[in-house]
Amino acid sequence: MAHLLITGGAGFIGSHCCVALLEAGHGLVVLDNFDNSSPEALRRVAELGGLQGEARGPWRDGHGAVRLQLVEGDVRCADDLDAAFTTSPEGIGAVVHCAGLKAVGESVAEPLRYWDTNLGGSLRLLEAMRRHGCRTIVFSSSATLYGYPDTVPIPETAPIQPINPYGHSKAAVEQVLADVAASEAGWRIARLRYFNPVGSHPSGRIGEDPEGIPNNLFPYLSQVAVGRRQALHIFGSDWPTPDGTGVRDYIHVMDLADGHRAALDTLLREEPQLLTVNLGSGQGHSVLDVVHAFEAACGHRLPYELVDRRPGDAATTVADPGLASARLDWRTRRSLADICRDGWAWQSANPRGYGP
Ligand code: WQD
Repeated sequence: MAHLLITGGAGFIGSHCCVALLEAGHGLVVLDNFDNSSPEALRRVAELGGLQGEARGPWRDGHGAVRLQLVEGDVRCADDLDAAFTTSPEGIGAVVHCAGLKAVGESVAEPLRYWDTNLGGSLRLLEAMRRHGCRTIVFSSSATLYGYPDTVPIPETAPIQPINPYGHSKAAVEQVLADVAASEAGWRIARLRYFNPVGSHPSGRIGEDPEGIPNNLFPYLSQVAVGRRQALHIFGSDWPTPDGTGVRDYIHVMDLADGHRAALDTLLREEPQLLTVNLGSGQGHSVLDVVHAFEAACGHRLPYELVDRRPGDAATTVADPGLASARLDWRTRRSLADICRDGWAWQSANPRGYGP
């Protein structure tokens, strides 16, 4: 087992990865500025891991060993990063880099903030890793860098052709990682290209809690179901898809978290390498499929309105999951029904997310 630094570990993806990595026996240091997350999420991660501690940690297991620690700080700040790398006497053996901004529309409106956080933060992190002799990193990349896919399902060899600042920033960090791996021996790097992470831990204690009006389908629909939003606006019903609505590859966030554990195990077990893998199910579902599945989970109808297409959307985005299966021995195990059941467990128990 290793001592890991999880950047953005209080966020939606990061908190679920923390649960899976604690379960695998790792010790975790979380660096988070709570810009788009809550300390409550981390407290609940500790609870799910059977750990005891104060509201902001450190949290200990039944033998008194510290298993989870929080460093409140910013991945763009060298001093905060040094604090995170030195807070644990065992040092940091590997990094899971989840800290970043991920709303496509917001990235178009605020490109400088996206470049500063996603690229700038990753550069400062890699510099800190070199300072502290750590050369193993799992990076939270995105299928958004494929842009409008030429072929579906999408293999890792598909052209990198992002169409928004968010996708460009992820592609740029991928390039930096490739350059670092080529420049210096000993780097173990996994670039994980997420398709559409959705749902929540089955306990309903942690989940997705976006700031403001959700940009993405699943959190918006969840908020309709719990009465925080009036109705879902479905962006386009004239797409070249079976029912005319957009098709995506939705992946349960706990499957995604398991994918991070599998990638880390592979990196720690094998020779230094640069590994790039899609994390998706390989199965597409339309917006209406998701609406109907969520209605079955929540037990009531969900109002929606068919409106115009959203600029920048593609008709269909689905992963070719073959490489993840071959290289990580990992594939999704949870269905759309599991996603909606667990997502509803979270939203119905936490109508205002982690807020009061
Ligand atoms: C899904 C489908 C919309 C909202 C995101 C981002 C990024 C990435 C995951 C990791 C599309 C439709 C949506 C709504 C709708 N994460 N929709 N009404 O656009 O695939 O991209 O993927 O990197 O977060 O790139 O996800 O959830 O926004 O849209 O009809 O209110 O739902 O048109 O067909 P998307 P999404």
